Amino acid sequence: MCGIIGYNGKKPCVDLIYSGLQKLEYRGYDSSGVAVLANDKINLVKQKGKLSHLLPFLGSLPQDASLGMGHTRWATHGVPSTENAHPHGEERVSIVHNGILENYNELKIKLLEKGQRFLSETDSEVIVHLLHDELEVVADVRKAILNIVDKLQGAYALGIMVHDHPDDVYVVKQASPLVIGVGEGENFFASDALALLAHTKKFIFLSDGEIARIGKDGVEIWDFYGAKKEPNIVTVDSSEASLEKGGYRHYMLKEIYEQPTVLANTIQRMVCKDQNSFDEKLLCSDKINLTNIRKVHVVACGTAYYAGMMGKYILEPKLEIPVEVELASEFRYRDSFIDDKTLIIAVTQSGETADTLASIKHAKSKGCKTLAICNVPYSSIPRECDATIYMEAGPEIGVASTKAFTSMVLNFYLLGLAWGQRMGTQSQTQLQNSLESLVKLPSLIEQALSHEALISEIAGSYFEDHHCLFVGRGHQYPIALEGALKLKEISYIHAEGYAGGELKHGPIALIDRSMPVLAIAPPLSDYEKVISNLEEIYAREGRILGLGLADDQKLKALCSHVIPCPFIDDPALQAILCSVPLQLFAYSMAIHRGTDVDQPRNLAKSVTVE
Ligand code: M6R
Repeated sequence: MCGIIGYNGKKPCVDLIYSGLQKLEYRGYDSSGVAVLANDKINLVKQKGKLSHLLPFLGSLPQDASLGMGHTRWATHGVPSTENAHPHGEERVSIVHNGILENYNELKIKLLEKGQRFLSETDSEVIVHLLHDELEVVADVRKAILNIVDKLQGAYALGIMVHDHPDDVYVVKQASPLVIGVGEGENFFASDALALLAHTKKFIFLSDGEIARIGKDGVEIWDFYGAKKEPNIVTVDSSEASLEKGGYRHYMLKEIYEQPTVLANTIQRMVCKDQNSFDEKLLCSDKINLTNIRKVHVVACGTAYYAGMMGKYILEPKLEIPVEVELASEFRYRDSFIDDKTLIIAVTQSGETADTLASIKHAKSKGCKTLAICNVPYSSIPRECDATIYMEAGPEIGVASTKAFTSMVLNFYLLGLAWGQRMGTQSQTQLQNSLESLVKLPSLIEQALSHEALISEIAGSYFEDHHCLFVGRGHQYPIALEGALKLKEISYIHAEGYAGGELKHGPIALIDRSMPVLAIAPPLSDYEKVISNLEEIYAREGRILGLGLADDQKLKALCSHVIPCPFIDDPALQAILCSVPLQLFAYSMAIHRGTDVDQPRNLAKSVTVE
């Protein structure tokens, strides 16, 4: 949440910072600002609203400035407004902040008592005043920053410019993401390497508790105790092209359509050519001895949590060990029974989700082994875990997660096969059957995608509804939850997912003509039970929207409409398939309602605060 970017070099930086902010806008988009150090002063513009609202004001900044920083905000303390937008401070010190200062109130009270005047309601502004005061007594900027960092509690990635030190910009990282981009005679910093790929492929991923001085010609790093650290420069092999919409109207749509390729590439990468073994990376054998594991605990948030639920359905029968799934925000504070024979799997697209990261730290303190399933290389969660399975799904920019979800589920599936083979809990026949089904998956997803126009037409009959229930059984139950989340996120329609068997225990009371029910009904082993659920809804004059075989007559008789979905004889792979039309359904509903698909209200892509 919140994106920050900075530049120190020889080029004019105002446009460069603005275009970097455009790439970071997925992190927060309620206000933005840019500050540059030029003409012997800090020059600042800020504006409420989307980043485009800032554009007309950039012309007032000195266009030859070559040191500056920008920020795009997701409000935590204080409403979205121009005053609360970053950067904060315009006289001696200017800062951009991503994170939350937990003790800002007590710091603010002390500063107010000293006569400081606050211009915003943010927690971040205390940093400006603290540093301002500290620089009155400590001339060395790095030392002054270290002294104030000592007083801060919480999460913070900071960019700091000091007016009378025009050669350098400083950055600090504690529990919020920050990366330094290394160039020739110029250096950068940002919340995400993606924002800098147009300029460099060389990055330094700061660790928590580090401060860096970023000059034009070099970068120096220290820990919070003042000890100098050797920068570890890594090359990131990702292209700018992957950040474009590629002709699609929205990132979300592009990402939905990327799924056949992403999944096919993963299968090709992970399943060895002999079709009888798997890439060693899946088994993380150099880091974790999976044969010692007696229990798996999956932790994640949002869509990744639903992928984790799928992980339970997939792994438990394949490994014959218990698999628990828990929301990271609960797990991190709970006194759970976990030990050194427990494997904690953190599932996360971004690798930066605060609760998931804290869960991993909590699990490590209990001696657990930790594995990440993650999409973003060098992000915080993989760096904290013993081992990582990288999804390699490519950047996901749309706030609503799509390709990352199906990719997470597929990686669970592959992990189950590989680990089950290693444990001897998967017979050769089971393995062969799974692999045969697996290779069919990408083309079946393509088939599912071919119904986009029909799905959009069907959505035309539902987009004016205010509520929607999603129902599924077995492996399709997490898909019902995920389908409901997708719909509410981008269309703002109230939607809930239920297991079919739960309907009678309460939700059926909601059924009437104004409560459409989207029923996931592929012809799997529990099909007849799903149909019985639908009979009960039908008998109460419910409106049913089915998801199943296009020519399923039983389903058609009960449903007002049927969204066609191809069939695959494996409930986990069927769940991946079923999630694709549901993504298109949510997308179409949002289009009909005219909402902002890629940047839905109140949300941000990467939830780096608790
Ligand atoms: O980056 P992560 O996978 O850890 O993110 C977890 C959730 O914040 C995320 O899945 C969120 O629920 C998405 N907006 C869902 O579409």
